[in-house]
Amino acid sequence: MIGTKGTVVAVNGNMVSVRFDGVVSMNEVGYVKVADKKLKSEVIRIRGNISQLQVFEITKGITVGDEVEFTGDMLSVEVGPGLLGQVYDGLQNPLPQLAKAAGFFLERGVYIDPLSGEPSWQFTPKAKEGDRVERADTLGTVPEGSFTHRIMVPFYLYGSYTVSWVKPEGSYKIHDTIAELRDEKGNNIQVKLSFRWPVKRAVDCYEERLKPVDPMVTRVRLIDTFFPVARGGTYCIPGPFGAGKTVLQQITSRFADVDIVIVAACGERAGEVVETLKEFPELKDERTGRSLMERTIIICNTSSMPVAAREASVYTAVTLAEYYRQMGLHVLLLADSTSRWAQAMREMSGRLEEIPGEEAFPAYMESTIANFYERAGIVRLRDGSLGSVTIGGTVSPAGGNFEEPVTQATLKVVGAFHGLSRERSDARKFPAIHPMDSWSKYKGIIPSEKVEYAHGFMRRGSEVEQMMKVVGEEGTSIEDYIVYLKGDLIDSVYFQQNSFDAVDAAVKPERQKYVFAKLLGVLASQFTFADKNEARSWFNRLRQKFLDYNGSEWKSERFEGLENDIESAVKLQSKGLDKAAEKILA
Ligand SMILES: Nc1ncnc2c1ncn2[C@@H]1O[C@H](COP(=O)(O)OP(=O)(O)OP(=O)(O)O)[C@@H](O)[C@H]1O
Ligand SMILES: [Mg+2]
Repeated sequence: MIGTKGTVVAVNGNMVSVRFDGVVSMNEVGYVKVADKKLKSEVIRIRGNISQLQVFEITKGITVGDEVEFTGDMLSVEVGPGLLGQVYDGLQNPLPQLAKAAGFFLERGVYIDPLSGEPSWQFTPKAKEGDRVERADTLGTVPEGSFTHRIMVPFYLYGSYTVSWVKPEGSYKIHDTIAELRDEKGNNIQVKLSFRWPVKRAVDCYEERLKPVDPMVTRVRLIDTFFPVARGGTYCIPGPFGAGKTVLQQITSRFADVDIVIVAACGERAGEVVETLKEFPELKDERTGRSLMERTIIICNTSSMPVAAREASVYTAVTLAEYYRQMGLHVLLLADSTSRWAQAMREMSGRLEEIPGEEAFPAYMESTIANFYERAGIVRLRDGSLGSVTIGGTVSPAGGNFEEPVTQATLKVVGAFHGLSRERSDARKFPAIHPMDSWSKYKGIIPSEKVEYAHGFMRRGSEVEQMMKVVGEEGTSIEDYIVYLKGDLIDSVYFQQNSFDAVDAAVKPERQKYVFAKLLGVLASQFTFADKNEARSWFNRLRQKFLDYNGSEWKSERFEGLENDIESAVKLQSKGLDKAAEKILA
């Protein structure tokens, strides 16, 4: 194939303007030739015979007159068995291999096949000669880790095909042909174990999109009980610098009830990424007892890589997520942090001299963010099975101000909002998800009237707390003071969760429901105390019991013992149930 050729006419940071002869399309990949290197770039604007390309590499050395080769292909990823366990950069270069090929310091212009040709895959045919097939239909399967990886009709093959032949059971390499299809005009099409798909086009080979309703359990109490995330839904974690966004995502990636986790670390500090890379392979997946890495893909760009690569990384990540969804799997995509991606958009827009919107972000940023989150979803596939992609993205607003454009644009499209609070993280109340500012549109694991009843104490308790700051403890009635103590109790024993405690770090839904019911029993009890001192010390003792209870093995002797202690203490002190709670507790 002879691609279009062009010549660099201007260089502005990592954007180059290229005059071309022939046809060039948006999002097409071009290579800028510098000395003996070819630097990968993407067409982001076309005006007449001049196109602007964002270069995914440091542009040092590019000069006017340099030659550019357009490929005719959109920016795309290779999908097939062997993606799991990989660590890629935003352009799907396997980082460990890249480091080996180019030395410790990543060299520009070095690109490596995303899926190695080396391993053999044990293929079992599912389709047979004469079958009529469409895009995404299963031709055979190979085992990948603990999953059955479907070898599908490539998604770009629109229309219907007849299977000419499928290879028999056996072991094949990634680029071996395993089947041949015939289209309606009689053309033969070879299918291999892998194929390519453009990252900016959502994979849509499903029968229908369903409404996300089933909770995606994370084992974080504050999320599952109060601000749940649905499978196939979207959520956003905005938080100031150091408030715990990354730690929360790491906990979720370990414990979320999904098959596959894809982490897109776009533009975080290099040290943080290195830490993730070191930590993950050592973590165990408690469902399989194998390394967590076997069901994880990490896409990482550190802030020292050029901005364009950050943009590519979120698209690469979501495309891989959609690919596994086509196999009837549940995938969680965690993007940390989407602000860095938005900053990349802003930088590019500035270079393109577009009319800036709020805080110099381009006007289309909102729709770009919306389009990204809309790629999440739970879908029914043609074979009837369900697959989902859930997307959780962190946002790092400057100064922790949630009014800024990226947070606001994200809030418009997501189904749940886990706002991290500087005040709570400074007080080391983790996870620092703000119990008042956060919200969710999804259904959680506990009926909402119970959750709202409990949440009411938190809200009223904090109102009393604010008031006490003004009028002092003396000016507060004992009734109000008890509401405050109850609010403080939920905060300490339910909202906060010790991520470094072996038991408390991750709490299964059955235990959450059980403990929540116990807590509700305390909240709904009417207590009388002689004075505030007595009330305070009684609640202090109860809180400590509850914390020990949280830290003890589920249904262990110690657990049962502490539960008895809590119940008898409450029984002794309680003068009956709050009238409003009777219906809720029933
Ligand atoms: N759930 C938690 N339990 C205990 N400590 C936590 C928790 N979350 C965060 N921390 C503490 O806060 C520190 C900062 O957290 P983290 O790196 O996740 O913040 P961040 O919001 O990602 O920051 P940045 O904006 O710099 O990326 C951690 O190193 C840890 O000490
Ligand atoms: Mg972080």
